[in-house]
Amino acid sequence: MTLQQNNTEFEEFASDVARCLTSNNKYLSPKYLYDKVGSQLFEQICLQPEYYLTRTEASLLNKYAPVISKLVGSNIKIIELGSGSSSKTAILLSYLSSQKKRIYYFPIDISSSILIESERKLKSQFPNASIIGIRSDYDTGIDRAAAECMVIGNNNKNISYTKLVLFLGSSIGNFELIEAQSLLRSLREKLHTNDLLLIGFDLQKDESVLSAAYNDNAGMTAKFNLNLLARINRELGGNFDLGKFEHCAFYNLERHRIEMHLISKADQQLYIGALGKTFALRRGESIHTENSYKYSLSQIAALAEDCGFTVEKNFTDEKRWFDLALFSPS
Ligand code: AVI
Repeated sequence: MTLQQNNTEFEEFASDVARCLTSNNKYLSPKYLYDKVGSQLFEQICLQPEYYLTRTEASLLNKYAPVISKLVGSNIKIIELGSGSSSKTAILLSYLSSQKKRIYYFPIDISSSILIESERKLKSQFPNASIIGIRSDYDTGIDRAAAECMVIGNNNKNISYTKLVLFLGSSIGNFELIEAQSLLRSLREKLHTNDLLLIGFDLQKDESVLSAAYNDNAGMTAKFNLNLLARINRELGGNFDLGKFEHCAFYNLERHRIEMHLISKADQQLYIGALGKTFALRRGESIHTENSYKYSLSQIAALAEDCGFTVEKNFTDEKRWFDLALFSPS
């Protein structure tokens, strides 16, 4: 990460925290949950028995890798948004390499530590694939990956590649609809007619299953949520006492989303060194830290259509808890 990137990110974080703590409805973007500690905690969440999302999606990838493999042809450029540890993508890479495909893989992630580690692992696991990690947010990352793809295309004019963009793990659920549409439309502009987009959507289901997934018994989701305050302490010189906050996650039935909040257990004053300011929080007041939208298959189809895509396939599990939707440009 360059010094300039560092400074811009620091300033953006500081000003978002200031805006959050001075507004009536206190909301901080979920992107701030993913510093080094937060990314590690999220990996732990994925292993919790209540968090069915990861293992269901992994089993879908296992089951449908041969179908996906047939659709992508022999030469493939995989671009993954928010790749994290890439452990689910490894399932697909493993099948594609067993089929002797020529593979370029561009994992894009905001966390450099997790990206370096996954790149190292994947390179030894798949020595014949070219793995080019991009530390970035989604927008810039897609542009950088698309530019890399152009260079590869120009250097290999006689080989035609299918681009497969992956957006796994129900990360799209952390976007408001309007943000999801804007991301998909911008992706659409960068894809050719034969390219594909594979998105993991968490489906609407019984409230008790959803609620358990975000209130796991081991308390990993609570730690993940509270780490946001620890991060403010570490990076912005805050004095949050984590013991004075409670993790709260519930299903908002009307909006089809899990909401994650940090609830203040007391009237308290918070000082943030980087801002040189003190903020007041009342007992019971919430800092809203994340929404996780749950989709229906018809909402997925509508989203695809609105953004210039057609749903080629819906790979769903028997319980209909999760959907891997394969979109192609319309
Ligand atoms: C990354 N994202 C899809 C997770 C989710 O389920 O919305 C983040 C998460 N938040 C709490 N637990 C997991």
